[in-house]
Amino acid sequence: MGAKGFFISKAVGVVGIVLGAGAVATIIALSVVYSQEKAKTDAPVAPTDGTGTTLPTVPTPAPSNEPWDKYRLPESLVPETYTVTLHPRLIPDPITKLYIFTGTSHVVFKCVKETQLILIHSNKLNYTKALNGFLATLTTEGGGAPAPAIKSSGLVEKTQYLVLQLSDSLVKDQKYKLSTTFTGELADDLGGFYRSEYLENGVKKIVATTQMQPTDARKAFPCFDEPAMKAIFHITLVHAHGTRALSNGMETGTTDQTIDGMSVQVTTFEPTKKMSTYLLAFIVSDFGFIQTTLEGVLIRIFARKAAIDANQGEYALSVTGPILKFFENYYNATYPLPKSDQIALPDFNAGAMENWGLITYRETALLYDAKYSSNSNKERIASIISHELAHMWFGNLVTLRWWNDLWLNEGFASYVEYLGADHAEPSWGVKDLTVLSDIHRVFAVDALASSHPLSSKAEDIQRPEQISELFDAISYSKGAAVLRMLSGFLTEDLFKKGLSTYLNKFAYGNTVYTDLWDHLQMAVDESGKPLPGRVHDIMNTWVLQMGFPVITIDTATGLVTQKHFLLDPESNVEASPYNYEWIVPITWMKTNINQPSIWLTKKSDTRVEMKVISGQWVLANLDTVGYYRVNYDMANWESLLNALTSNHQDIPKINRAQLIDDAFNLARAKEISTILALRTTQYLTKETEYMPWESALDNLDFFYLMFDRSEVLGPMQAYLLKQVTPLFDHFRILTVDWTIIPPGHMDQYNQVNAIGKACSTGLPQCQTLVQGWFTSWMDNPAVNPIEPNLRSTVYCSAIAAGGAKEWDFAWDQFLKASIATEAEKLRAALACTKEPWLLNRYLEYTLNPSLIRKQDATSTIVYIASNVVGQPLAWDFIRDRWSYIFNQYGGGSFSFSNLINGVTERFSSKFELQQLEQFKKDNEAVGFGSGTLAVEQAIERTKANMMWISENKQQVLKWFVDNTLP
Ligand code: BES
Ligand code: ZN
Repeated sequence: MGAKGFFISKAVGVVGIVLGAGAVATIIALSVVYSQEKAKTDAPVAPTDGTGTTLPTVPTPAPSNEPWDKYRLPESLVPETYTVTLHPRLIPDPITKLYIFTGTSHVVFKCVKETQLILIHSNKLNYTKALNGFLATLTTEGGGAPAPAIKSSGLVEKTQYLVLQLSDSLVKDQKYKLSTTFTGELADDLGGFYRSEYLENGVKKIVATTQMQPTDARKAFPCFDEPAMKAIFHITLVHAHGTRALSNGMETGTTDQTIDGMSVQVTTFEPTKKMSTYLLAFIVSDFGFIQTTLEGVLIRIFARKAAIDANQGEYALSVTGPILKFFENYYNATYPLPKSDQIALPDFNAGAMENWGLITYRETALLYDAKYSSNSNKERIASIISHELAHMWFGNLVTLRWWNDLWLNEGFASYVEYLGADHAEPSWGVKDLTVLSDIHRVFAVDALASSHPLSSKAEDIQRPEQISELFDAISYSKGAAVLRMLSGFLTEDLFKKGLSTYLNKFAYGNTVYTDLWDHLQMAVDESGKPLPGRVHDIMNTWVLQMGFPVITIDTATGLVTQKHFLLDPESNVEASPYNYEWIVPITWMKTNINQPSIWLTKKSDTRVEMKVISGQWVLANLDTVGYYRVNYDMANWESLLNALTSNHQDIPKINRAQLIDDAFNLARAKEISTILALRTTQYLTKETEYMPWESALDNLDFFYLMFDRSEVLGPMQAYLLKQVTPLFDHFRILTVDWTIIPPGHMDQYNQVNAIGKACSTGLPQCQTLVQGWFTSWMDNPAVNPIEPNLRSTVYCSAIAAGGAKEWDFAWDQFLKASIATEAEKLRAALACTKEPWLLNRYLEYTLNPSLIRKQDATSTIVYIASNVVGQPLAWDFIRDRWSYIFNQYGGGSFSFSNLINGVTERFSSKFELQQLEQFKKDNEAVGFGSGTLAVEQAIERTKANMMWISENKQQVLKWFVDNTLP
């Protein structure tokens, strides 16, 4: 293949053209759309001029540094309005068999700096030559001298531009209009303008839909595809009779027209507000919908007709209004649009996308049916709706200038999603769950030397893969955690005040993250609240350096110190501008300590007066509002363990969960002994609350990963069986022998833990119970007797205990499922079988999109890898097919790092490390895309696991044996 990245190997139709720029010919790589399904080849291919005509091959040029070689747009042109008409064809071309869309676009932009060059993003679009012989026409807009003539036009594949060279300069402050006509493929690739398919009464149906974030609007029409290039969009969609078109704005009318001899419908929309390209959405479908209005805002839920007819949209419709009102109040800003549409799509890569006014979801994230859906499915719907609605202001109305600040956008929505969901479902207590799903989740990666700071430099984030890589646990969960801490120490009132002035000031504009700090500071100044520094200075220590501190409290001396918490204390970390010192708000349990809360600003300068009576304890980081771990002197640990065994309710439940999580992780970092960590689980025989149990099970999962192929497993299972049996009995009684559902949301979760763990550790009563349910369902498939909350765990237990008969039955039910959440439960449970041949067959299914949707492929492989029998099979499978998987499935943003993490999480031997390093080497050329960092993390994790096992195995084995003796 030619110079790296110049001829892109992906597509057959990748080409180059000659731009007549003086003596030196400038070569530009092009891509043609009708190439997707063809075989991939590494050979250089014939160039075209962007209209489908083949030109002679051009030799590979020397690397150049022209404006079109840069990924960022030059600062010369600013778009104002776009008028875009798109016509997706929902039936394939009879000859090529491809689905395509056609379009025209007119973009009016202002020249703010003289230039002879127009660069506008365009990816995989094929242009029709205009009368001038070029790929676009240019005219002056709003009077003024005629526009300069176009001298050359072409497409750059690598940096995804349409490039126009002009015979003369554009004039500063003059407006111009650029017009194009183009076609693109409506591929099933889940990005840009793409197609989704489903069966309805045996008939294949096609939906045309979009996913633009972060950089795929350029795949639908030529645009200045950067978040700061806000403009107003006038959208028109052409579609077949019997279908409906949706976009960000409200439909203003639909007329019948004849285009190319075809009778079609043409739907126009209200022009949008001034907005970023990544928030656009265009959809054509024959979906059904339900609607309501709330204080003048139209709220609609769209989905497949069968789903709407089965009332699966009702729950989403019922929570949207209240959550929208909650955010209007929280932000002190009215919802800026006249309508809020939400649509469930059969094929969708992420969970949901906050397109302004037309939010897209995967079906499991929006559709609910009490007959099939669990409380967990319901909570996911409430919180994901809340997350996306939060973006309508934070992100959409006010947008970060560049992707390097993505963490603030996603972190913010990930924090406030709990507040909105809590407003819709106040009895659930969901706000607490951020501790498990965000803080514990991200502590695990942020304690590695391969972590990274929240904030990146704008110049370090250029290529689309670099942008995609930012959608990680650090941006989402650490972002959420530090904002929750900030709101905690400012008070929610001040936080809201600053937020509201920020949103008002920058409405329809762009910001950098420090603009938010400035507005919070104004609120602080006005209130006179004392802080140890400016918001800016405090937050910099959390945002500009990676990791987090462990606070050590010595109750004997009253000394409180901090240090960088690293899972591997020996690892080398890069230098930090703050020398791994944080400004830490420390809260206490009120007993035993004089000050209610303190600030720790240096590594070791703080002494607190403690009046610790022997046997009494100190507890810091109340409700885990702070993003840090806490360690204590041994005497205090002993008192805390005592408190857990004698009166665990004295310690708030979040902190019980936190003590367990801190202990296990401090042990992994060798700050305390592993035995001390294990001792935090002894009191669980008396614990019935979900949060501490979940925290313990999550941490013990690491023990399973490390030991489930070793002699430790038996004694460990015996210990856990002993611990979980009282919980199983508790729920048996609470549910009157499994006949009623526990009333509390968290109790419902913990019931699942009780059954799941009791069955997997071999409690005969549990196994009989769940196998009985499953057999009864197999005997009469029309009646599923398993309560929806319990289905995931019951299906998994039964399939694990069963063979091909159970597996095939579940697969059949998967194919027949009428709601996506039911299919999802079965898809996960199918990975639970212990039969290698079934697992290998299932692995093959994952890459067959007619069996497993593309959106679900990587997560299915991860499910299989989480099974101890499936793990080596999954690892062989992805090693064998990496380049295929990467090319077919590499587009997804989260899924790639999840895949790498998933298949490598058990790695803990020298051989596995070698294999991993070999894998990295073998695939250097193919690459890992958004999973690049995950490969590094996997290597680091494997080394740490090897160390941990060698240091802990014997004592852990002995402890489990000793602690199961009667
Ligand atoms: N903006 C994202 C969706 C997205 C993610 C687009 C990655 C492109 C790449 C959206 O707001 C989001 O964060 N969705 C989450 C759900 C949320 C509840 C964490 C998702 O899709 O999982
Ligand atoms: Zn988001």
